[in-house]
Amino acid sequence: MFYAGTLCYSFIYAGTNTIPAPYCADIERVVEKSAADVWPEKPVAAGSSAPKGKNPHACVRTLTLLGGQTVGKKVLMIDGSARRRNTYNILLQIEQVLKTHGTKVEILNLFDYQIEDCIGCEACVSCKECAKKDDMPILMRKIMDSDGLILSSPVYMSCVTSRFKTFADRTNTWVHKPETVGKPVMFVATTASTGLKETKRFFELFATGFGARKGGLVARSGKTLGKPVQEKELSRFLTLLAQDKRYYRPAMSEIVMFTVGKVLATKSTGDDRRFWEEREWLNRNYYYPCKMGPVRNLFSKLMFRVISNAMR
Ligand SMILES: Cc1cc2nc3c(=O)[nH]c(=O)nc-3n(C[C@H](O)[C@H](O)[C@H](O)COP(=O)(O)O)c2cc1C
Repeated sequence: MFYAGTLCYSFIYAGTNTIPAPYCADIERVVEKSAADVWPEKPVAAGSSAPKGKNPHACVRTLTLLGGQTVGKKVLMIDGSARRRNTYNILLQIEQVLKTHGTKVEILNLFDYQIEDCIGCEACVSCKECAKKDDMPILMRKIMDSDGLILSSPVYMSCVTSRFKTFADRTNTWVHKPETVGKPVMFVATTASTGLKETKRFFELFATGFGARKGGLVARSGKTLGKPVQEKELSRFLTLLAQDKRYYRPAMSEIVMFTVGKVLATKSTGDDRRFWEEREWLNRNYYYPCKMGPVRNLFSKLMFRVISNAMR
């Protein structure tokens, strides 16, 4: 089901892969301006009141009211672009905003790591070690150790770059044994003009597959590349980062993905079942106690029956 969903993309490329030189200069200016003039140099800790005046970080106060905490949280940003240009510049601006919330930020580029193509042996599904020996365990460990994740890619042929896709394929084990349940994840995409909708859909399916809490998309196309990143574009991600996951209300699509995993684990005779049992997920309507309400709980139970019957 997951495979079918993720593979349904259109490949309409109507854009151009070059950003006119003035844009690049604009972006560089924006990044410099963002760091030096727009945002306060000193981090604003959740829990303290935001400085008066021009501070655009209004949602710090909201987070404080919710009893949230972003200070000291580790955010990992993953860049799927071969060059440090449009997407990277957006990440730098996001880093500035996050730092004002006291978070620690690491930006890594997938091109700096050795990532082999998946060969489809399905060793990861049958609970054996991946056949490929490369840097994927390092990347997966970094993701697991982070408190929040930002996945980014330029739009290539209405989807993420092949590098990002290769990386995503290699995390397939997490579709069966999710190690990152409840992690806040935000997406960043830049494009010349087209493909944002499809790329967003890819990112969302990917993150839903490993049980993440989705924190929205920051997107820029040719016309808006020079537009500075606003604090409000990150407010959902920051709120998720600060909040305990019991306040999360999973979308129906997330409940469906959970239920597919639960059915697969129930039918598995090996490691998958043990993995799900150890976490007590087989008795639950979602991975963890959260804002399900009676409708979502009922939906989860019904889905379990429907999917179990369909997979008989
Ligand atoms: C191989 C390739 C494919 C691309 N495909 C699309 C596309 O489908 N739609 C589009 O509008 N732009 C497309 N672009 C343009 C990039 O998405 C855009 O320039 C992006 O901002 C580059 O980001 P970067 O500077 O981080 O690499 C493509 C560029 C390349 C090189």
